[in-house]
Amino acid sequence: MASSSSSLAVVTGGAGFIGSHTVDALLAAGYRVCVLDDFRTGKRANLAQHAGSDRLDIVMCDVSHGIFAALAPITAKHGPVERIVHLAAQVSVVASVANPLVDMQVNYGGTLHVLEYARAHAVKKVAFASSAAVYGDVTEMPVREDLPTRPVSPYGIHKLASELALDYYGSVHGVATTALRFFNVYGPRQDPTSPYSGVISIFADRARAGRTLTIFGDGQQTRDFVYVGDVVRALVAAVGDGNDRLVANVGTGSEITVLELARTVVELCGKGSTIEHAPTRGGEILKSRARVDLLRDRLGVVAQTKLVDGLRATLA
Ligand SMILES: NC(=O)c1ccc[n+]([C@@H]2O[C@H](COP(=O)([O-])OP(=O)(O)OC[C@H]3O[C@@H](n4cnc5c(N)ncnc54)[C@H](O)[C@@H]3O)[C@@H](O)[C@H]2O)c1
Repeated sequence: MASSSSSLAVVTGGAGFIGSHTVDALLAAGYRVCVLDDFRTGKRANLAQHAGSDRLDIVMCDVSHGIFAALAPITAKHGPVERIVHLAAQVSVVASVANPLVDMQVNYGGTLHVLEYARAHAVKKVAFASSAAVYGDVTEMPVREDLPTRPVSPYGIHKLASELALDYYGSVHGVATTALRFFNVYGPRQDPTSPYSGVISIFADRARAGRTLTIFGDGQQTRDFVYVGDVVRALVAAVGDGNDRLVANVGTGSEITVLELARTVVELCGKGSTIEHAPTRGGEILKSRARVDLLRDRLGVVAQTKLVDGLRATLA
């Protein structure tokens, strides 16, 4: 990706788990970066490693209405926004079932605001964090991008609606976009304190303390767990030039059961945690494994971090 100190990249949700790793990578690639975040789940501490950097601005902003005003002083100082990585979202499937209107406002409304900004200011490229939740409960594995999309939660519906909006802004307004459908992302800085956090961060947190791990259901549900470093490589490729209107899965192409995951985490921690089962939660996908041909062939990214290595980095 071409970059220079004069190129401004915006990362919405840049104080979050995936966002802060994305900021690390864009700064390392030579970009000036502006983070837009309302800190509902993100933390300033995730960006503390860049304290004092003159190439990073952090602006408190709700992407579902405040983008234009938040970016005006930044662009007045540093020139136009060249690229946007749009990660800001209400991230909980369970919360989206409880509060679908809030989910729509943040997850669909936020994407529309980003696209309106991109259209109005001729932004060169928008990369969007979609989700495997757009597929719903598919039975065909691996999950291909051209399978029917039948989301089973408001979260999945609004990620899919956002993808459709990206396509619309591409065809009608010429906004260049790439959407990435993340499978289950894990790694350092994932917040374990929310009951809706990624299962690995919760398991890791409890197993480190020798506490019981709770599995919702029988644990035979499978997930394609992809390390955050691999996801960031995909985002950096996606926000570069080319691959306009591509929609690509981001996963490893393999799946493990949640029960197997729990046992591995318990073993790596060595604190003898027990595993218990609780009733299944609504809106959850049963099986999940990505086809990753587009990720490899179009974006040149192979998720290469082995689960056990990624787990060690997360536990450290
Ligand atoms: N972690 C995963 O496994 C996974 C899987 C699929 C998709 N995704 C998507 O990846 C993106 C990043 O998720 P994450 O796992 O890093 O979660 P996260 O909660 O750590 O990051 C989300 C960030 O968005 C910010 N945010 C939320 N609403 C906002 C708003 N209205 N305005 C401005 N900022 C707002 C939060 O404060 C936070 O910093 C999200 O779009 C999420 O839906 C994540």
